[in-house]
Amino acid sequence: MKNKDDKFKKVISHAKEYGYIFQSSEIYEGLSAVYDYGQNGAELKKNIRDYWWKAMVQMHENIVGIDAAIFMHPTTWKASGHVDAFNDPLIDNKDSKKRYRADVLIEDFAEKLNLKAKKEITKAAKRFGDAFNEEEFITTNPRVIRYLSKRDEVLKRMGESLENEDLSDVKALIEELEIACPVSGSKNWTDVKQFNLMFGTKLGATAESAMDLFLRPETAQGIFVNFANVQKTGRMKIPFGIAQTGKAFRNEIVARQFIFRMREFEQMEMQFFVRPGDELKWYEYWKEKRLNWHLSLGINKENYRFHDHEKMAHYANAAADIEFNFPFGFKELEGIHSRTDFDLKAHEEYSGKKLQFFDHELNKSYVPYVIETSIGLDRMFLAIFSSALQNETLEDGSERVVLKLPAVLAPTKATVLPLVKKDGLPEIAREIINDLKYDFNVSYDEKDAIGRRYRRQDAVGTPFCITVDHQTKEDDTVTIRYRDTMAQERIAIKDLRNIIYKEVSVGDWLKKINN
Ligand code: GAP
Repeated sequence: MKNKDDKFKKVISHAKEYGYIFQSSEIYEGLSAVYDYGQNGAELKKNIRDYWWKAMVQMHENIVGIDAAIFMHPTTWKASGHVDAFNDPLIDNKDSKKRYRADVLIEDFAEKLNLKAKKEITKAAKRFGDAFNEEEFITTNPRVIRYLSKRDEVLKRMGESLENEDLSDVKALIEELEIACPVSGSKNWTDVKQFNLMFGTKLGATAESAMDLFLRPETAQGIFVNFANVQKTGRMKIPFGIAQTGKAFRNEIVARQFIFRMREFEQMEMQFFVRPGDELKWYEYWKEKRLNWHLSLGINKENYRFHDHEKMAHYANAAADIEFNFPFGFKELEGIHSRTDFDLKAHEEYSGKKLQFFDHELNKSYVPYVIETSIGLDRMFLAIFSSALQNETLEDGSERVVLKLPAVLAPTKATVLPLVKKDGLPEIAREIINDLKYDFNVSYDEKDAIGRRYRRQDAVGTPFCITVDHQTKEDDTVTIRYRDTMAQERIAIKDLRNIIYKEVSVGDWLKKINN
C-alpha cells in the first residue's frame, strides 16, 4: 500500500513540476477537487481528445460529432431522471463533522474483508508451494469462507437497501458493522440522506424572472435532445452514432484521488442508435472496439480489465466498465452501456415531440435503442500519465525519471538543442524549428549542459531531442536522441521531418485499432 501511495504522490508532484496539472486557484489555497491544466497538460489533454475524436468520428462514416451547450432546458434533467435519481447516500459523523458516502464506507469495509481473505490465500500459497490448489483452498478453508461470505452478505444487503431506498437500513448496517469515522474513530453517525449531485444555477436578470438551471452532469443528454436534428439534417440511417466531448459538472462528495474524481471534468461520449433487438450485438461490438482503442496506445494489456455490471441502472439492459490499473488500484475508466430506448422515450414524453426513425427496410417507425460509450477525459489523462511516469536505473547506476508518453500524445514532439550558445549554432537550431513547426509542436532549449537538457526533456516526455553541434555547420547533419531507448543517431537535417512523422502520425496509431 505504501508503495502505491508513494507512486501516486510522485505522479501528482511530477504533474505539477512539469506544467501538466495545477490545483485550481492555488494562490487562494485552491478549490477542492477542481484542477487546471498547465502548458503541457493542455496539450496532452487536447491530443487525447483528438485521438478519441478521430477514432470515433473520422474513422466511422456513420458517426458524426456535435458540440451541445452546457446549459440545457431544465426539463431535460427531469426527463433523464437526474432530478429525481442522481443522488448519493450521505452520512455525517457527529464528532468529526466529516461527511461520507454511506455506500463507500460499506464498500471499504467489504474490501477489507476481501484483503483479509487474499492474505490467507497468499500465506497458504507460500506454505504449500507447487502443490497449492487455490480454488480448493477458497472453497474449504473456514477463515477464507467466513471472510468472503461476510463480504458478499454485506454488499448484497447494501445493494438491496439502496434499491429499496431503505436508508435507515443503510445506517443500521453501518452501525452493525461498527464502522468508525476514519478521522475521529467515532461511531456516532447521523441518519443517511440522499444528496443530489447536480449544480444549480440561474438564468435571467431578476430574481423573479430567473429560471433555475443545472450545469449538465453528463454530455449524453445534449446528444439525445439533438437526435432528430442530426438524423434529419445528416440524413443518417440506423445504425448511426453521435459523438461529443465537453465539460460536465458533479457536486462530488468524496472528491479525492486527484483528477480521478473532480467536480468539473470532461467527458467523451458517443451514443450509437440501433434497431430494437440489435442492441446486445452492438454492445459487444463497442466493448471490443473501445478496448482496442485503449490498447492501440501501447500500454500494457495487463493494466486493463472489464467489469461487467450485475446491478444495472434502471434504464440499462447491459453495462460494463473498462477498468484501468491506476496507482491506487483498478478503477473505472470508461463505461459501455446498453441504455435501451429509455432516454429517447422519456424526452418524447416530456417534450411531446417524436424522436423516432422510419426504417425503410422494416417499413415502420420506432424509437431506436442506444449503446453508449462514455469515457472521462481527465481519467484517461491520469491513466496515460501515471503509466508513462517511470524511474529507471541506468547502466552506470544513475537514475533517470522519464515520462514515456505515447509519441502520438506527447505535448511536444521534439526539442532542438544547440550544443553551445555561440558559433552560429543557436541560429541553425532556430532555422530547424522554423521549418518543423508547421507540422509539429517543437521547442528550443539552450540552458545547461546537454546531459541535463536531455534529462529535462525525458521528464517532460518529449520523444525526440535534436542536437545541433559544430559538425552540423559542415555537413547539415544533427544528432537525434530517442527518449525511450536513449539511443543517438547522426542524421541529415532534411530527414528530420520524416523520422518524426513516422513516430507521431495519428493515422499510423489509429491503424492499430483494427489490427
Ligand atoms: N453518460 C453516462 C455517464 O455519465 P458515468 O459512469 O457517470 O456515465 C462516465 O460517467 C465516465 O465519466 C466515467 O467512466 C468516468 O471516466 C468519467 N467521470 C464520471 N464522474 C467523474 C468525475 N467526478 N471526475 C472525473 N471523471 C468522471
